[in-house]
Amino acid sequence: MTTVDFDALLEAAHGVAQAAYSPYSEVRVGAALLDDAGVVHLGCNVESASYGATICAERSALVAAVSQGQRSFQALAIWASPKARLMPCGICRQMLVEFAPELELVVASSGAGPERYNLADLLPGAVRPEHLR
Ligand code: THU
Repeated sequence: MTTVDFDALLEAAHGVAQAAYSPYSEVRVGAALLDDAGVVHLGCNVESASYGATICAERSALVAAVSQGQRSFQALAIWASPKARLMPCGICRQMLVEFAPELELVVASSGAGPERYNLADLLPGAVRPEHLR
């Protein structure tokens, strides 16, 4: 584990938001996911003409990290282009809780400064792997 530099993480999220593929909503979202080894994994939202197939930035970052063999995470920064903060959607919360139930989040947007959250507060009563045994 390392000390989390939330400002740097948010800057990374802001940077990768520029890669967003969002011709339909025109909303750009970037996510920077810090793993337990101190490596940052980046993701942006990728939309589809079949709207429901859209992948959020948070899941893009998570899938990239897991594909690199990382499964433990300390913190996640999310930056979005709208004025208001864009909180992670329910599906992303559920995907994240599987790997990091106590994940620290920082969320900011073009018009709203950084706010900190803990994933445990954002998804109470989550479905957990142990519930399937
Ligand atoms: N979006 C994300 O990337 N993350 C979220 O948690 C909320 C929504 C994206 C999906 C879509 O491309 C756009 O923002 C508008 O919903």
